[in-house]
Amino acid sequence: MRGTHQFVFALAVGMFAATSAPAKLEFSPGETWLDTSNKTIHAHGGGVLLHSNIYYWYGEDRTPGGSGAVSCYSSTNLYEWKREGVALARFDLPRTDGQRAFVERPKVIYNPRTKKFVLWAHLEQRGYSYARAGIATSDSPTGPFKFLQAIRPVANTNDFAELNPDPADEKVLGSMFRDMNVYVDDDDRAYVFYAGEDNWTMYVARLNDDFTGPKLPAVENKTWAKILVRAHREGPAPFKYHGKYYLITSACTGWKPNAADCAVADNILGPYQSLGNPCVGENADLTYETQSTFVLPAPGSKERFIFIGDEWHPENLPDSRHVWLPLTVQTNGTFKLRWHDHWNLTNGWK
Ligand code: DGJ
Repeated sequence: MRGTHQFVFALAVGMFAATSAPAKLEFSPGETWLDTSNKTIHAHGGGVLLHSNIYYWYGEDRTPGGSGAVSCYSSTNLYEWKREGVALARFDLPRTDGQRAFVERPKVIYNPRTKKFVLWAHLEQRGYSYARAGIATSDSPTGPFKFLQAIRPVANTNDFAELNPDPADEKVLGSMFRDMNVYVDDDDRAYVFYAGEDNWTMYVARLNDDFTGPKLPAVENKTWAKILVRAHREGPAPFKYHGKYYLITSACTGWKPNAADCAVADNILGPYQSLGNPCVGENADLTYETQSTFVLPAPGSKERFIFIGDEWHPENLPDSRHVWLPLTVQTNGTFKLRWHDHWNLTNGWK
């Protein structure tokens, strides 16, 4: 009897497997990307954390009708993603002056000292002049994250005679904080990169030991620095290669795509020098209709990287697409980004 049951069970599993086609293990940039429950992945403006051999993908949760501010997905192969749920809920975001904030470009890092997962994001309100960092922590990579604080990490030390008017109160509150990313260096120090001063100047600031705020006392050019000064860049995506710090950014044209730039520095606080647009081929001047959000070291390699961008659909933001492309190192140490309709972690580097 037991054998019969096993046979029927095996037959049922076989039939199910035959009718549900296995997911293709490849990236299809710009196509709707489904999770393991066949639902559209919503991790826009996001970032990926590798923790205990599992990849966690966090991003803006634009699921129609959903309550998530930040979503979390997990994967072991980078192609198939399981939705872990809402990492940070919208109703957990602060309300100031009667307005609930919203979140853009969330990223998560792990602090081995406190054993906490720390989420940083651009926290915003209608009009985009709230411009704060939103910080939340969790004991688990999948959340729920608990909102901790909304801050402007460092002062704006510019001559305020020139900053007149000062609509976002930078003189009192510090430099604005918009598009952002966080990066943990090999020495376990963490940094936040962000578009400051109304997007005119990129900032980088070292984080405190808990990764929950800036390193204090904050000293310009020691714990934080202005980089890409007055260059008007956003979408910062930092990565490290052979001891140098690289920073892919976009220009500032709202939701519309524009040309990327890759800058390089010997020190994480700069100075950074532009290497130009890493994109080649058709649509290179529009970053293939995308905007940078993250660069992920490819599995098992210190030489290979994955560029992650957003193809924004401003008329219907939930329909925005994820674009993952191989970022390849050239013999002179610069990087090139090429479009691929489909690619995988084996053939993408050729
Ligand atoms: C460009 C930024 O990169 C996006 O994250 C978003 O803030 C849009 N601007 C809003 O116009």
